[in-house]
Amino acid sequence: MGAHEIRKICIVGAGNMGHQIALSGALAGFQVKCTDVNEEVLQKAEQFVTTYLPQRVSKGKLTQAQADVARANLTFTNHLSEAASDADLVIEAIIERLDIKRKLFAELDRLCPSHTILTTNSSYIVSSKIVDVTNRPEKVCNLHFFNPALVMKLVEVVKGPHTSEETAQTLMDVCVGMGKTPVLLKQEIYGFLVNRMLAAIKNESIYLLDMGIAGHEEIDTAVTLALGHPMGPFRLMDLTGIDLTYIVGMERFQETGDPIYRPSPTISEKFAKKEYGRKTGKGFYEYPEK
Ligand code: CAA
Repeated sequence: MGAHEIRKICIVGAGNMGHQIALSGALAGFQVKCTDVNEEVLQKAEQFVTTYLPQRVSKGKLTQAQADVARANLTFTNHLSEAASDADLVIEAIIERLDIKRKLFAELDRLCPSHTILTTNSSYIVSSKIVDVTNRPEKVCNLHFFNPALVMKLVEVVKGPHTSEETAQTLMDVCVGMGKTPVLLKQEIYGFLVNRMLAAIKNESIYLLDMGIAGHEEIDTAVTLALGHPMGPFRLMDLTGIDLTYIVGMERFQETGDPIYRPSPTISEKFAKKEYGRKTGKGFYEYPEK
């Protein structure tokens, strides 16, 4: 199926990534249904959209008509079947737990029409770990957005050995239709392109911090001013979530036994204290508005 046939997108998971991917799709003219099992998360997502669109209009970034069309294109529901049963494309953006994703994909395979492409926005779980619960291996793929998804242009399209060329190409085209710039990975690899590079910078920064060589603010300043990154690694961990850094590191350590992946004492301590970053109001920095 070609990208021009993709009109209806279902986003499963209305959290940080899910609701921003949903709104990106709605702004680009797709009909998007965003679903979550957690009513509170769903309400927060809808509230974000209700606040964000008028702000964009006030800032002169959108016309009122564009905002109205985007709002009309986007619906929220806590019924997975309602969101998935007429979707041409599903983007899953739920918790990074393989068992839960596998259960969801089996359900999606049952609910969705046979032409529907099923993708995961997972940062680390490759689609070949999920695909066997579906009856459409050629239509299963990783589609990885970046945080904040409304702003970040890049999307990694990661082709599994089961993914057809046609599906990968359709997803590349859909990303362009959403105003994004996709890059194709021809093979699955842990961390894809971007998170592998980020991990190297993040690990080195944590090492320098733990060694007492410099504070987190100094390291962030060095990375922004000398390397030209929009934010340093500590501010970035606060944005993406220190909980995610901890969970992903711990899972990888348990999977491989390689101590390089074991979360450092600093990260473990922040995780234990629930200092996850922006979402809890404190990480390496403080966010008083939360
Ligand atoms: N949601 C939506 N829009 C946001 C936003 C958010 N959370 N934060 C900022 N923006 C928008 C602002 O509205 C503004 O838009 P306009 O210019 O169109 O008005 C624009 O972004 C710039 O915002 P600010 O001026 O407030 O702040 P800034 O210039 O410091 O930019 C930033 C903020 C966009 C987050 C920028 O610092 C940045 O790009 N940081 C790097 C982010 C990054 O590296 N992301 C990748 C993370 S890794 C990942 O995502 C992988 C994974 O697997 C989880």
